[in-house]
Amino acid sequence: MPSSPASIEFPPDFVWGAATAAYQVEGSPLADGAGPSIWHRFSHTPGRVRDGDTGDVACDHYRRWPEDIALMRQLGLTSYRFSIAWSRILPEGRGRVNPAGLAHYERVVDALLEAGIAPNITLYHWDLPAALDDRGGWLNPDIADWFADYAAVLFKALGDRVPMWATLNEPWVVADGGYLHGVLAPGHRSAFEAVIAARHLMRAHGSAVLAYRTLARQQIGLVVNIEPKYPASDSAADRAATARADAQMNRQFLDPALLGQTPPEMPEVYGEAWVEWRPEELALAHQPLDFVGINYYTRAVVRDEPGAWPLRAAPVRQARAMHTETGWEVYPAGLSDTLAWFQRRYGNTPLYVTENGSAFYDPPVADAPCRDGLLDDPLRQHYLREHVLALHAARASGVDLRGYYAWSLLDNLEWAHGYSKRFGLVHVDYATQQRTLKGTAALYAKVIATGGRCLGGR
Ligand code: BGC
Repeated sequence: MPSSPASIEFPPDFVWGAATAAYQVEGSPLADGAGPSIWHRFSHTPGRVRDGDTGDVACDHYRRWPEDIALMRQLGLTSYRFSIAWSRILPEGRGRVNPAGLAHYERVVDALLEAGIAPNITLYHWDLPAALDDRGGWLNPDIADWFADYAAVLFKALGDRVPMWATLNEPWVVADGGYLHGVLAPGHRSAFEAVIAARHLMRAHGSAVLAYRTLARQQIGLVVNIEPKYPASDSAADRAATARADAQMNRQFLDPALLGQTPPEMPEVYGEAWVEWRPEELALAHQPLDFVGINYYTRAVVRDEPGAWPLRAAPVRQARAMHTETGWEVYPAGLSDTLAWFQRRYGNTPLYVTENGSAFYDPPVADAPCRDGLLDDPLRQHYLREHVLALHAARASGVDLRGYYAWSLLDNLEWAHGYSKRFGLVHVDYATQQRTLKGTAALYAKVIATGGRCLGGR
């Protein structure tokens, strides 16, 4: 656990935000001329999402965004990170622009600016237009151009007004969940495909950054999820397994983007499925970035496991530790370790923690313990407090960390888990769409209002 120093203070320009993603919160997936996405298809395929849940209604954020921006103001957020649904802008994924889809996001951006909340837009948070999946999706090399063309539409329309852009959210999850293990859309299960998808994801990232440099002038970066890996023992086998897991999850995407190389362990991870990147592919992926966003939830302690495909590595559950409802160990020190590791390996690119949060069971509001009208969620409050302290520790050790986004503003569709996992600062009653602040929201508002000082001197 990070130590709790007597005084905590974040600078006044430190960004305090919350994040969401289009398919998880918006609902109305086909409204106003939008095309279907792979998540629309996946969630409507029986057996893919728990309890048959879909994003058809979700938090109805597509229509209730003014109310949600009012909540953001109430919390004192200085930034809102959200994603744009590609198939609202280009219903077939390429070609024809849908003006109604674009107008929706223009209204949201203008209302955020009016509320003094900086928009931070992610171009791709996993909801590929289904029409592009029909052409091979992330396996088709042309996707780098499709993505850059889509990005260019947005840079032209919103580039002057939006200070922060991210190309991809968590390319590892797209390749690993979508193409290697098949637990997320489009649900494929192939090491050969995962290797190809990863390469085209990063070519697409580079192509969009290049488009940005000609069309807009603020900040663009990449958002990755990092889960630091610690060996279960000192044995050579466990240490090698840890290096494989770290390469596949943490360095597979950052090394091309920031160093113009792929991790040396990759051939060992993927065996005959691995294909070396061509120099021009590495060069395209390796574009100067204005920031990197790190999503941090947990760590993994890793041991050698010959039967685990394809990594031959397996996580070891830490029996005495606290775990969230998604089974993730609560390990705040991993956040400061990760930020310090990033700086050592990749140098001084400005960092933001673009997601961090926890799912814990919240009882229905009517039965919930409430304090001052807030749904009491002590475990989530503990998680937030300890991770904000870890941010502070990282900054104190010299990391150029400029902001933090809580995941998530609202309870929402937790992908294949459906609505069974609640990460929100704000509780959503899905039957009535009523929003209720949780204790964590109040704690976060206090952290923001005091620049973190309320956490000092415990
Ligand atoms: C994703 C979110 C997701 C969260 C919690 C991240 O991997 O970006 O969309 O809901 O983690 O699982």
